[in-house]
Amino acid sequence: MSAKLSTTGPKATASSCSNIAFIKYWGNADQQLRLAASPSLSMNLADLTITATVHFDPALEQDELIMNDVPAEGNAAERVFTHLDWVRRRAGLADRASVITHSNFPTGAGIASSAAAFSALAVAGAAAAGLSLSQAELSALARRGSGSASRSVPDGFCQWLANGSDDDSYATSIAPADHWALCDLVAVVSSEHKQVGSTGGHGLADTSVLQTARLASAQDRFAHCKAALLDKDLATMGPIIEADAVIMHAIMMTSRPPLYYWTPATLEIIHATAQWRADGLPVYFTIDAGPNVHLICEAGYADQVDEAARSLPSVKEVLRSGVGSGTQLVEA
Ligand code: PMV
Repeated sequence: MSAKLSTTGPKATASSCSNIAFIKYWGNADQQLRLAASPSLSMNLADLTITATVHFDPALEQDELIMNDVPAEGNAAERVFTHLDWVRRRAGLADRASVITHSNFPTGAGIASSAAAFSALAVAGAAAAGLSLSQAELSALARRGSGSASRSVPDGFCQWLANGSDDDSYATSIAPADHWALCDLVAVVSSEHKQVGSTGGHGLADTSVLQTARLASAQDRFAHCKAALLDKDLATMGPIIEADAVIMHAIMMTSRPPLYYWTPATLEIIHATAQWRADGLPVYFTIDAGPNVHLICEAGYADQVDEAARSLPSVKEVLRSGVGSGTQLVEA
């Protein structure tokens, strides 16, 4: 376990990476506390980041959230304020806070913006409140805001195990960022905000008759994927991550009501990926809760994958990221 982060307060800023899951989290054993029903495995994305500044201010009458220079209201703001309540309760603090976030990538389009946001918020919020928390405690705190955010707190490649209780459900690093120069090229086909977010989606997972089969086989995929990742064996890992993503989307599509995140462009890229591989380019896909396709390859092939993805008319842009470190406190 890492050393405790030094306290700052009443204002602190943290920067955090998004992450892409190779083995997906979809469905909770406890929806309120976001205790995952299956283990997940991910890589932090160095180049897709969110910075959050939290300032506890006695002069404020209510919490405020400004995202990318725009005041936020509604569900997004409520989720952040509820998260601040966890921090306040733990620190014995009553002051309201202002939260300012900046992201360098489109939010709400299956590029895990909530992972980067809630991990940054947890680390900045705890520091601003004067709390001295371990990395595990910060990961568990981030998890309460968004399950996948637990995996952005530690360094590099991270796992988050299933079930657990509120205090012991947190992510840990299985290998540092420099373990393996993997690249994620996100083929963006839409950057519109999705209709049903992942919080709602997790709540529907158990309505799919396929979820029982998914959960029964998840540990096996997780163990094989983790072993291949530690061996830096993409030829073994690739088919597992593709299967795991498609199985998750099968749950989404067979939930009641169903969730169809794929568009025709998503399927076009899935087919193109198989063709690129047949042509000798070692690249595999995974897809989060959105239509965009994450293309995973070793860094040496990133330029070729980038070019191949951009050649598809439905691809609007390609975001590229290497492996990132964990959430850091930074100077504002
Ligand atoms: O952390 P949430 O509630 O946004 O859920 C994330 C779900 C997926 O991105 C689809 C999968 C994952 O493990 O990141």
